[in-house]
Amino acid sequence: MVSVEFEQVNKQYEDGFQAVQNLTLDIKDKEFLVLLGPSGCGKSTTLRMLAGLEDVTGGNIRIDGMKVNHLPAGARGLGMVFQSYALYPHMSIHDNLSFGLRMMKGTDKLDGNEISKRVKEIAQLLELDDHLDKKPKELSGGQRQRVALGRALVRRPKVLLMDEPLSNLDAELRHQMRNEIRRLHDELGTTTIYVTHDQIEAMTLADRIAILDKGELQQHCAPMEAYHNPANDFVRSFLCKHIDDLVDTANALFKKPEEVNE
Ligand SMILES: Nc1ncnc2c1ncn2[C@@H]1O[C@H](COP(=O)(O)OP(=O)(O)OP(=O)(O)O)[C@@H](O)[C@H]1O
Ligand SMILES: [Mg+2]
Repeated sequence: MVSVEFEQVNKQYEDGFQAVQNLTLDIKDKEFLVLLGPSGCGKSTTLRMLAGLEDVTGGNIRIDGMKVNHLPAGARGLGMVFQSYALYPHMSIHDNLSFGLRMMKGTDKLDGNEISKRVKEIAQLLELDDHLDKKPKELSGGQRQRVALGRALVRRPKVLLMDEPLSNLDAELRHQMRNEIRRLHDELGTTTIYVTHDQIEAMTLADRIAILDKGELQQHCAPMEAYHNPANDFVRSFLCKHIDDLVDTANALFKKPEEVNE
């Protein structure tokens, strides 16, 4: 059981800017939650507070019922994947994947056999087995992003956090990786929080979406529920209108010439 709770969480940066306001949100065990909203609405701030990379200035964050406000990032048992892959360029893919495991200390320390086993498993899952001896620069963007994902998953995190992990990829790869990420989630069942400003990405990936605007939660529900029953004008325009416009564009594009002339 790995749940995450935000209870009345606030973030005021040192310059006085209130980036997140009274955020109350629960993420259930094994759930895939997408944090969706326009640039600057507080998505990364929210994720970074959960990861322990930013202090909260009010409220509580709990992982598995335990308050983690003051727990250091490394002790929270989370895996993170960012937009920039940040792989070690001089290390092979195998060593990039195993690095975090080799660094584990104390009671978490793993022996060499266990490390090899886990790297092999994750490489198979992500179809990287043929690339383990290569360096990152010898891989495509999509393969590099899969290594970044593998590096987070190989540690078997309690919760997987992803912040716009696909925005550096072209449309085709983004589509492929999106399916890959959802498939992995269904296979592994890791509680996942995924940040994006892309409405289609949110709709296709999420069990539930949490829509933010100006640091405030607007709606938190299943994606289709938000689409059919938007909570307010912001959700109506940011989510529903955006999707309707896309559908209209696609329909216009595929209209037969005789229909256009009618
Ligand atoms: N260190 C900081 N000091 C002051 N303000 C900050 C700081 N970091 C972020 N902010 C502000 O907080 C707000 C939320 O930032 P955040 O990075 O969480 O947005 P975001 O939703 O992730 O946006 P994007 O989609 O562009 O990544 C923004 O207005 C940003 O300018
Ligand atoms: Mg961000």
